[in-house]
Amino acid sequence: MPNHVVVIGSINVDAILHIQRLPKPGETMEMDAFSQAAGGKGANQAVAAARSGAKTSFIGRVGDDANAAFMRGELVKNKIDTQYVSTTSGEQTGQAYILLQASGQNSIIIQHGANFDLTPNDVQKAATFIQTADFVVAELETPVDATTEAFKIAKAAGKVTILNPAPAQKDLPLTLLKNVDLITPNETESELITGIPVTDETSMRASATYYHELGIRGVIITLGSKGSFISLDGQATIVPAFKVKAVDTTAAGDTFIGALASVLQIDLKNIVEAATYASMASSFTVQKLGAFPSIPLGDDVKAALNEHK
Ligand code: RIB
Ligand code: NA
Repeated sequence: MPNHVVVIGSINVDAILHIQRLPKPGETMEMDAFSQAAGGKGANQAVAAARSGAKTSFIGRVGDDANAAFMRGELVKNKIDTQYVSTTSGEQTGQAYILLQASGQNSIIIQHGANFDLTPNDVQKAATFIQTADFVVAELETPVDATTEAFKIAKAAGKVTILNPAPAQKDLPLTLLKNVDLITPNETESELITGIPVTDETSMRASATYYHELGIRGVIITLGSKGSFISLDGQATIVPAFKVKAVDTTAAGDTFIGALASVLQIDLKNIVEAATYASMASSFTVQKLGAFPSIPLGDDVKAALNEHK
């Protein structure tokens, strides 16, 4: 039986501005091209999980504009259950403006729109959904009180919760962190939470200890092209990244989380193997433009892993 993954999170339409470099203050410059793609951290995670074969359901909000219909359509096309994607009338669907430089580096400006209207009450309505999930996954582009509610319901039902604490946010409530089973920060996000700069393996282990002491069993600190540091109940390993040429790294982190949730066992014991799979999945994502369009299918990820052996 495939894992049932419930994602609570954001839905955005991404406007991608292809530029050579960032403009200077006061400068007017041309862009090389403009493109649009479906995105949003939560939606990307859900698509990654679904394309890797998980039964996937979404809890989120869109506005009542044309982008809402577009994004609902995109989620459904990816076989994601959108029963608990609600509509805020008079509000825009979330948007992200991605400044994509020729180097492949990106800077993102977000208009959160309806994403910020998600409430604990929306989550309560979806309680039976959460109670039948294997994994409940969230990031920080929707309100933290709604996520906390989802994780509390999940934990009370013995389900596994995964928090991707992105975009980086300070002062996360303890009630949220205490209901997390697996946390997946990058270096910057981790430092904001723990106060420990992630510079080497010693600091990674110290960070892991911080999380474990809060009751978080699994820790994956993602290190970009350097791979990821993993600690399960204090047992630490580093999984290297697959080397590829980055075209657009947008959604690479989200792909990692979604792909991970689709192959993890609920006891988390296969975390290293699952992270290797997730790392291969995100290596596909960085090689293509746009969020949704770049997220790979599970069969392609498996084939690439076999080839790599
Ligand atoms: O993580 C990438 C995502 O962040 C983009 O798709 C954009 O929508 C922003 O939310
Ligand atoms: Na991409």
